[in-house]
Amino acid sequence: MSDYQQFIANVKRKTGIDLALYKEAQMKRRLTSLYEKKGFKNFDEFFRAMNHDQALFHEFLDRMTINVSEFFRNAKRWEVLEKKIIPKLLEKNKRLKVWSAACSTGEEPYTLAIILSKFMPLSQVSVLATDIDDNAMARAKLGIYMERSLQEVPEDVKKKFFVKEGSHYKIIDDIKRTVTFKKHNLLADPFDTNFDLIVCRNVLIYFTEEAKHELYLKFNGALRPGGIFFVGSTEQIFNPAAYGFEVEDTFFYRKM
Ligand SMILES: C[S@@+](CC[C@H](N)C(=O)[O-])C[C@H]1O[C@@H](n2cnc3c(N)ncnc32)[C@H](O)[C@@H]1O
Repeated sequence: MSDYQQFIANVKRKTGIDLALYKEAQMKRRLTSLYEKKGFKNFDEFFRAMNHDQALFHEFLDRMTINVSEFFRNAKRWEVLEKKIIPKLLEKNKRLKVWSAACSTGEEPYTLAIILSKFMPLSQVSVLATDIDDNAMARAKLGIYMERSLQEVPEDVKKKFFVKEGSHYKIIDDIKRTVTFKKHNLLADPFDTNFDLIVCRNVLIYFTEEAKHELYLKFNGALRPGGIFFVGSTEQIFNPAAYGFEVEDTFFYRKM
């Protein structure tokens, strides 16, 4: 077994996270540069150190999870969601069950809540937001962001849903209350069901093809018939019918 394969097995035993389901070259490169920076010679040394150094273990998690996010990331897609997808979903159900899977630091579920608030009172908006990374979700719950996370946010939305505090922006409590954060590993934990809309963006790109195939099927199973699966702007599904989806719009798939 190679040094990296042994590391994968150790990490799986320690955390339940299966690095074998992430694209190998990319993940290996990211982790190698971290252990080298820390002065270790190989994955074995790195793992041993991680075992008694909690801070190092967190750095490892941080490096493997890649938390970059942004409000209204790829704004044109969110426009399609608002103008076309949500109105259509609301024709069937007045209440929507919505999941932001791999929500990172919260920009995505809060964007969803902001958009949904244009269609219904905030008391009826509810978004489930999950991620494997506790640290990212702790930041999501704080709801404080640097200006660069808000680059794509229209001025009127900024005024209405954020409070400026020095050089930071805080999402207002009314929006915060609509989002429930929960730890969830897409590659290991069971999925809830009957969703009208699942947003899972910019995480599938890190997974192997096999892991992706399995996840498409699981996302399909988690949706109601007619429900929508919204993916990231580099994450087109090449054979949606194989997973029970049809194309609704670019990067939006409807469960058949
Ligand atoms: C690049 S961020 C994407 C954030 C947001 N969805 C967006 O598009 O802006 C990727 C997120 O996927 C999460 N992630 C990685 N592996 C995961 C897994 N197995 N289960 C759940 N989340 C995972 C990371 O912790 C990270 O927060």
